[in-house]
Amino acid sequence: MKASYRIAGIVAVALSSVLLIALTFLYDWFPAQLSPSSEKVDTLYKFLVAVSVPFVVVIFAFIAYCLIEFRAKPDDPDDKDGEPIHGSTRLEIIWTTIPLIVVVALGIYAWIVLDDIEAKPLDEMKINVVAQQFVFNYEYPDQKITTSNELVVPVNKPLVFKLTSQDVIHSFWVPAARLKRDMTPGPATKMRFKPEKTGTYPIVCTELCGVGHAVMRSQLRVVSQAEFDKWVKQQQTGGGKPAGGGGDGKAVFAANACGGCHTLAAANASGAAGPKLDGLGFDAAAMRESIVNPDAKIAKGFSKGIMPPTFGKTIPKKDLDALVDFLVKAGKE
Ligand code: CUA
Repeated sequence: MKASYRIAGIVAVALSSVLLIALTFLYDWFPAQLSPSSEKVDTLYKFLVAVSVPFVVVIFAFIAYCLIEFRAKPDDPDDKDGEPIHGSTRLEIIWTTIPLIVVVALGIYAWIVLDDIEAKPLDEMKINVVAQQFVFNYEYPDQKITTSNELVVPVNKPLVFKLTSQDVIHSFWVPAARLKRDMTPGPATKMRFKPEKTGTYPIVCTELCGVGHAVMRSQLRVVSQAEFDKWVKQQQTGGGKPAGGGGDGKAVFAANACGGCHTLAAANASGAAGPKLDGLGFDAAAMRESIVNPDAKIAKGFSKGIMPPTFGKTIPKKDLDALVDFLVKAGKE
């Protein structure tokens, strides 16, 4: 290759790398940053992009060069195999050492970021998150709130979440904090972050956990300390609507995300994974059986094993009674 071509090639590779990195950085891919973890993860991401892009460009440029340079040319139709090459120590040292340094450096940087995010701060607030198909429930042990289907937290307070599941593996994802972690029916996992901006942020289940996975969503509401204290008091005195439903059948329906799979006009639900509940005409006994032991009788067009068989255990008796009552009434309309 002529020296002028080689220089032109190097310049082209450098320019394309800079252009691609600039394009990636200029476009705003992410939701708003909620906590210090958000900024750290975004910086790590940008660093990874800046390091990866030149490799991509060099590799594709090399492939393009080989395709053009070593093609069968019309004036030289040589289709014989090339001379076999038996190793090149210099090449092997280069292509082992460079990736090794890059990967180890990135690994150390990512580990530092992770260690930083997971560091235990002083005076953190504990929240237990319990997942089940297809809903998240929140418990505040220090505030003595046992169930809430809304995650309400005070701004600028470090939080620690203990994550567990009652059935299958789910995953707790808070995009604004750039954090996600699996929730297993086995050992509890942990997540820490400190929300620094008030507002409402989505929470998403990001592990395929069954037919209702796509609707397994929740909300994080970051409020002022005063507003949080007020909310806590409401929950404790029963002024608010606890997630369990507190004896209100419609609230139990919502708290257990029944609408993710069932259509019911009285609850504004339009799920299609399970039978429609309007006009069902069940009596209380049949309704209770279909909730507690869903596989006992299966409606035409549906199959066994879709509805979680755990609701009989997870819904408190008073709430289950209220839910049955609500559904029997709503199903008659
Ligand atoms: Cu829970 Cu996906």
